[in-house]
Amino acid sequence: MWKPIINRHTPHKIKAIINALKKDICSGHLASGERLPTQTELANCLGIAKSTVARAYQEANSVGLIKTIVGSGSFVSGEGDQFLSAVGGGNLGLLDLRVDYPLYDFDPSLSETLSQIALEDSQHLLTYQEHAGREEFRNAGLKWLQLNGVDCSVDDIVITSGAQHAITVCLSSIAKAGQTVLVEELTYPGIKESAEMLGINLISLSMDENGIIPQALLNALYDNENVKALYTSPTVQNPTTILTPTERRVEIADICQKHGIYILEDDIYRLFSDVRPEPYANLLPELTFFIASFSKVVCGGLRIAYVRVPSAVLKIVRRRLLATHWALPPLMAEIATRWVNNGTASSTLLTKKEEAGKRQKLAKKIIGQKLILGNLSSFYVWIKLPAEWSTEVFISEAFNNNVAVLGNGTFSVSSNSSKPGVRLCLGAAPNIAALEAGLLKLAEMLKDGPSAAMGVI
Ligand SMILES: Cc1ncc(COP(=O)(O)O)c(C=O)c1O
Repeated sequence: MWKPIINRHTPHKIKAIINALKKDICSGHLASGERLPTQTELANCLGIAKSTVARAYQEANSVGLIKTIVGSGSFVSGEGDQFLSAVGGGNLGLLDLRVDYPLYDFDPSLSETLSQIALEDSQHLLTYQEHAGREEFRNAGLKWLQLNGVDCSVDDIVITSGAQHAITVCLSSIAKAGQTVLVEELTYPGIKESAEMLGINLISLSMDENGIIPQALLNALYDNENVKALYTSPTVQNPTTILTPTERRVEIADICQKHGIYILEDDIYRLFSDVRPEPYANLLPELTFFIASFSKVVCGGLRIAYVRVPSAVLKIVRRRLLATHWALPPLMAEIATRWVNNGTASSTLLTKKEEAGKRQKLAKKIIGQKLILGNLSSFYVWIKLPAEWSTEVFISEAFNNNVAVLGNGTFSVSSNSSKPGVRLCLGAAPNIAALEAGLLKLAEMLKDGPSAAMGVI
């Protein structure tokens, strides 16, 4: 149950509850959609009047911070303009580096492509499509997966509405409620959403500088029954940017093969990396799903991911596609197909990679190489916090300095992550100047250490 630290004697209890909500949302302690305690529970826990909690919830609800549903309870709201402005994202002075936005200024020209489509006979884009996507669309997927270095044929490919949808479709094809999937110690938070919806347990595996530690994988397989899969993003891992080299992948693939567990290789940042080790999909094709999304390397709104599926589970995957979206909207697939075939997707990737590289260099220069993990051309960096900082205090002080970042709590599936740190999404800054100003503030905080004035409210 959420238990904020509030001074019982403060005359501003309502404000204190709302501030605690904001702080815990920003630090990742409260996830969007999370259920809050009932008014009676919170009042009892804080030793204050129920009417005070009721007014705090009412106010938080009216500004979009939480959503109260009569008969169901109160929940943390999700993204959205009102929510972001409630937690501070609407504050013009705030540099919000929480979400991995993929450099919108460098997106391809949609109007140009739509004008071309409008001049042609495009009525066929209004017809139902096969669940995996029409062959012509999957052929573009084949080219894109080949660019990623994945050996596959057009029949192994399905198209999903982005990588998040791919994760849900793949998970639901191989694991049932009550079964287990293994993830990296710090992992992409979207997997938590899919697993929660499907009732799948997640167990985290320790990592070193080369990614998942093989012995940790073995231990988890010995200690837990019903492990069905390993979910990993092995190149430019989100959030740590760690790259798992081929030798380590061979060891991991070997263990997965011996224990008969699937690998969900979510490698949506792979094309940003100049070093591209052998994909798991080539090392263990019979058990590996490979996910390549357009979202980061081309644009986020088209909602396209090409997924290479092990042939034994293609049938069930098609059924999951039917259940979740029937098929990708053909207009979206048409645009993606054109962009793959005419080189727009590749040239956008290169432009974004170049800009990401400039931002990485700047971050490393300002924060210092010692504290930062970052692939030269990824959109985010991971700051390993020095011992004097707790993640919560760093996030809170950064927020007071008008820089919003997310910490290890957001990326962890267990409450005691051993890797205190924060992720900075460099691509979310509107421009280099704004990024530089924010980075300088963080560098100053790191140099000075936590301020002594962080009292309890
Ligand atoms: C590792 C990883 N996988 C999947 C996704 C979701 O991507 P998409 O926008 O294609 O659904 C993200 C988004 O940030 C991500 O970082």
